Amino acid sequence: MASAARTASRAFLRSTPATSSFRPAARSARFALPSQGFRAASRRGYASEAGEAKSSNSLLWAGIAAAGGVGAYFYLKGGDASVSSKEFVPTKEDYQKVYDAVAQRLANETDYDDGSYGPVLVRLAWHASGTYDKETGTGGSNGATMRFAPESDHGANAGLKHARDFLEPIKAQFPWITYSDLWTLAGACAIQELGGPAIPWRPGRQDKDVAACTPDGRLPDATKEQSHIRDIFYRMGFNDQEIVALIGAHSLGRAHTDRSGFDGPWDFSPTVFTNEFFRLLVEEKWQQRKWNGPKQFTDKTTGTLMMMPADLALTKDKAFRKYVELYAKDSDLFFKDFSNVFVKLLELGVPFKTEDRYVFKTSE
Ligand code: HEM
Repeated sequence: MASAARTASRAFLRSTPATSSFRPAARSARFALPSQGFRAASRRGYASEAGEAKSSNSLLWAGIAAAGGVGAYFYLKGGDASVSSKEFVPTKEDYQKVYDAVAQRLANETDYDDGSYGPVLVRLAWHASGTYDKETGTGGSNGATMRFAPESDHGANAGLKHARDFLEPIKAQFPWITYSDLWTLAGACAIQELGGPAIPWRPGRQDKDVAACTPDGRLPDATKEQSHIRDIFYRMGFNDQEIVALIGAHSLGRAHTDRSGFDGPWDFSPTVFTNEFFRLLVEEKWQQRKWNGPKQFTDKTTGTLMMMPADLALTKDKAFRKYVELYAKDSDLFFKDFSNVFVKLLELGVPFKTEDRYVFKTSE
């Protein structure tokens, strides 16, 4: 069940010489056309995003969750109160089935961006979790409140409807899983399917209703630098090493002018999880792009990659830079540290009933 995107990107990586001077031609052939073709469509989709966020069956499921979660699901489905007492208790195998369904859908749906929904699923899991505030215990992945406006309309969440919609058929196939568990499980799945480390995951999140939406401004602003990054991530309870490791997820995906306003991928293999983000940060020369858009930086060698001010801040700040250099040199260390910190991110503020985490089998 290998993901086509992963296979293609891995083949691309293997066939691409290590010297960056050979990469651009291969890159533009590989990425320019599909991504351009998609963008026109995605802009149309974005225009109707705010209204649709409220009109899906999300509210029904939020109501069901609020009414008592899994047991209530059986009650409503069967219309028989006696059934509700027999709660379906999912096992690791049941969650592996959800993982497999997400992986299969990733492999099938390659007509999107650079050929994979994986990066935007990772971003959904991160933005669902990254609203956490350790002082108040509010926000975090427990709730999946991005189903509702105003949170779905927060500027930082622009474009994440693509990820939420991608997961709706999975939710329909496995109605017993909460959105909060599904979004985080899908993020773990995407990391693994795109060649990243195993992300041990545990269930237990409950969906909350619209009242639990977090205020705007909890997620980082890419136009800002180190002190803002620290304010945001310290609020969640991360230290400098963890912050740098987490942002290494920018080896995946790209920025979109119709979402954040920024434009382009961070590296040449946006559908493969690597430590390239760090290598390029330290080895490339980044110059300010001259364009009619937000301040961003372009690599001197090819002029095809980008870094945002918040990315480059990781090299300007001495304490951050130490870890950027470490991860640029040591991919295994980055994979290990990323796995640990991504698990921590997805679990912020969740009152789990179990210590046991599942390590899902990646598809062949
Ligand atoms: C200082 C911290 C961060 C800032 C300012 C930031 C900002 C951004 C921005 C502006 C985009 C482009 C969105 C678009 O136009 O589609 C983006 C994309 C992305 N971010 Fe971050 N981010 C940060 C940290 C993280 C973290 C911690 C993760 C995950 C652990 C992450 C994962 C991603 C991924 C995978 C994408 C690509 C999405 C896609 O291809 O659709 N980011 N980020």
